Amino acid sequence: MLGIGLVLVAFCVIYYTHLLIKWRYPKINGVRVQLPPGSMGLPIIGETIQLLIPSYNSIDIHPFVRKRIQRHGPIFRTNLVGRPVIVSADPEVNKYIFSQEGNLVEMWYLDSFAKLFAFEGESKVTAIGRVHRYLRGITLNHFGGESLREKMLPQIEVAVNDNLCNWSTQGPVEVKSAISRMIFNFTAKVAFGYDVETSKGEKIENLPNFIKSLMSFPLNIPGTTFHKCMKDIFLIKPLMIWHQRSFLTEDFIAELAFGILFAAFESVSTTLTLAIKFLAENPLVLEELTAENEAVLKKRENPDSLLTWEEYKTMSFTTSVVNETLRLMNIPPGLLRKALKDINVKGYTIPAGWTIMLVTPIVHLNPETYKDPLKFNPWRWKDLNQATLSKSFMPFGGGTRQCAGAEFSKVYMAAFLHVLVTKYRWTKVKGGRITRSPILLFPDGVHIKVSSKRD
Ligand code: HEM
Repeated sequence: MLGIGLVLVAFCVIYYTHLLIKWRYPKINGVRVQLPPGSMGLPIIGETIQLLIPSYNSIDIHPFVRKRIQRHGPIFRTNLVGRPVIVSADPEVNKYIFSQEGNLVEMWYLDSFAKLFAFEGESKVTAIGRVHRYLRGITLNHFGGESLREKMLPQIEVAVNDNLCNWSTQGPVEVKSAISRMIFNFTAKVAFGYDVETSKGEKIENLPNFIKSLMSFPLNIPGTTFHKCMKDIFLIKPLMIWHQRSFLTEDFIAELAFGILFAAFESVSTTLTLAIKFLAENPLVLEELTAENEAVLKKRENPDSLLTWEEYKTMSFTTSVVNETLRLMNIPPGLLRKALKDINVKGYTIPAGWTIMLVTPIVHLNPETYKDPLKFNPWRWKDLNQATLSKSFMPFGGGTRQCAGAEFSKVYMAAFLHVLVTKYRWTKVKGGRITRSPILLFPDGVHIKVSSKRD
């Protein structure tokens, strides 16, 4: 009896060791290829838990990435949310991967995102390609080019001023949610002609915290983040269907809204919240920013006229504040791609079907380009030339998939800072802590008290 028991135990040990070896050292077409170093973690969950452990109060990239770069070098393998992943913090490799968009790689937002995007029976890659073309097109149409310069800049200024005026009549305001609400209202009006103030429909309070779903398991059962996200998407459908009923399916519209609103709210509001935190902690920067923007008003015949494109272009310190915040912000730990074919880089193979995480933020924190890289120092931008920046500054991504809302975002943020420092006084009342879990978040918000300079 004991003998049979021992044989069974030995059989189980051999079987599970075999499974573990298969999991950790996979073969491609029957051949064991040279994968980058790293660990695939535990079966199924991989190293997801380690990635989700928050890091507190450091603007540095998430320790998950930092520690593994120290241990394995700039290219390593791991497993996240059930997917094998190659992480690259090698700028040369990242540039190559960006140049292979649609050929060797495609955008890939893990299973969670791909499932949200896909039609019944449609392949995920096709779904992403479809959504991508449409999204880029409508974003550029609504938020780019001439209309941004001529029409939208004054609209942004007026909307920001209305909001700040409103904040100045209240007690302390939590900046992240207040800015998200402000951008939601503005975007809904510009892109969809939907006036949140006068309509009874959707408000930002009904919108989901999409960002949480980024690293969630694609498990659509009650209680999971993914399930909540799917439910939330159905909540915002009526707003979009109301505007575009005639030619788009419900699912497609919800997907589209997901993309645009996710990008617009989370990225712009996070950057501006971080800028406010930095300004509160760096009074000399606030002083120079205020001086530059007040000088713009002084040069005008009518100080009450609205910011022009030419004036915006002269605001170099304001641009440096925006750039310096974007350099340090690095909301996600990296940009995600899917390998469509086996890819050979630096002696390693990235197998077809694997996810690639491009750690673009690594160039933002390179001490050779940015001295004392974790310090918020907008003055450093005076000495940075265009050639350096083209390689070492990529908050909006790279290659053909670069952010379609980049110009709009920069203009929006500069106009917001312009109005804030010329017309209002403000002090930070509480909050300002940051975490990366792995996305940049403000656990207690950033609360400021705003008052008008005219009072
Ligand atoms: C501070 C603000 C923002 C940041 C830092 C940011 C960052 C990015 C990044 C890094 C990408 C590339 C993603 C990848 O390669 O996987 C991207 C793509 C995109 N962003 Fe933004 N974004 C911002 C604001 C916006 C806004 C306000 C909009 C819309 C009005 C927008 C629309 C888009 C679109 C449509 C894409 C996809 C472009 C394509 O694939 O062709 N973004 N963004």
